[in-house]
Amino acid sequence: MTVRFPYILAIDTSCDDSAVAILKEDGHIAADIVYSQNEIHAPYGGVVPEISSRQHVSRIARAVQEAFFQAGLQPRDIKAVAVTFGPGLIGSLLVGVQFAKGFAQGLSLPIIGIHHIEGHLMAACGDATFPSPPFISLIVSGGHSAIYMCDKNYQFKTLGETRDDAAGEAFDKIGRMLGFNYPAGKTIDDLSALGDDNIYVFPVAMRSKATLDYSFSGLKNSARLLIQTLLKEHGEIKGKVLFDFCAGLRKAIVAALLNKAFMACHAQEIKHLVLGGGVSANSLLRTEAVRRGDLEKIQVHLPPVNHCVDNAVMIARAALRRLKEGQQHTLDFNVIANVSVDTVSGQPPNR
Ligand SMILES: Nc1ncnc2c1ncn2[C@@H]1O[C@H](COP(=O)(O)OP(=O)(O)OP(=O)(O)O)[C@@H](O)[C@H]1O
Ligand SMILES: [Mg+2]
Repeated sequence: MTVRFPYILAIDTSCDDSAVAILKEDGHIAADIVYSQNEIHAPYGGVVPEISSRQHVSRIARAVQEAFFQAGLQPRDIKAVAVTFGPGLIGSLLVGVQFAKGFAQGLSLPIIGIHHIEGHLMAACGDATFPSPPFISLIVSGGHSAIYMCDKNYQFKTLGETRDDAAGEAFDKIGRMLGFNYPAGKTIDDLSALGDDNIYVFPVAMRSKATLDYSFSGLKNSARLLIQTLLKEHGEIKGKVLFDFCAGLRKAIVAALLNKAFMACHAQEIKHLVLGGGVSANSLLRTEAVRRGDLEKIQVHLPPVNHCVDNAVMIARAALRRLKEGQQHTLDFNVIANVSVDTVSGQPPNR
């Protein structure tokens, strides 16, 4: 039986953001709430799992309430619930999934668990030009840097992935060496705009055409060594030196990401490249992807900047596709801290 759902409530608590969205069946966003914990985790240089889950507990009901207020709707207007079941921090995932299950059970609504990366993969699909599969997807976030092939049944297959740090992780860790707060990707992006990207040249790893994998540990090491050298030369890293450092670093990361993504499109003879994940908010990555796409005759699809980092709109979008096919979960589905999108996409969830 196909489920009818004028409005869908979606929740993502996979990491440190309590995200809630309400979308209409046609994809219209009625509410989009993200309670960020960035400032709470900043002093620790990264997300502290226990703090994150406790914050979700104290915020999730308020975030849902605010979403209803923003949408001008009541719980009775909701006809389906979607929630991220994994991957992520187990305690954080549990808060969102338990809340969603309670909401669905209380109102006798269908519920569907969504893989967080499937959400990032579908973040751009609100755009009318979003392609029907097959397409290639580049997901670059705090925890992932991977290239996926999406076949006509929305079955994702990993073609390449990072062997060490994710791209966002590399931005964050190198940002920390420079004294920036977590997360540092946007700070480095903003400062890069003031710098010259030809002064400091960082290595672009895994250039070989034989693999679509990434590695950012060499880049991190070369950044550490350069910081030591610059500190010896200048005493501190600021002003033009800092801007040039950021610009060179951003250029190398963007080149590494796009080289492999376009390589995958050509190898698979696919004409559509879909980007997602927090690093896809990077201004150079966005302009370079489109520029190279024009040159190489590959259409590039970008999520809106505010839907690159974690949000619940992307979870609702992934869920809408599945719900329209009549898919749903029974209430006994579990959270999973670590699960590849390859193993859960393409097939309906266990009912
Ligand atoms: N403009 C930007 N340029 C580069 N990196 C950015 C930018 N904006 C955000 N980021 C990076 O995006 C990351 C956060 O993205 P996201 O919220 O998708 O990741 P996550 O949810 O922590 O990880 P995952 O989705 O893999 O579980 C951080 O590493 C942050 O530094
Ligand atoms: Mg994410």
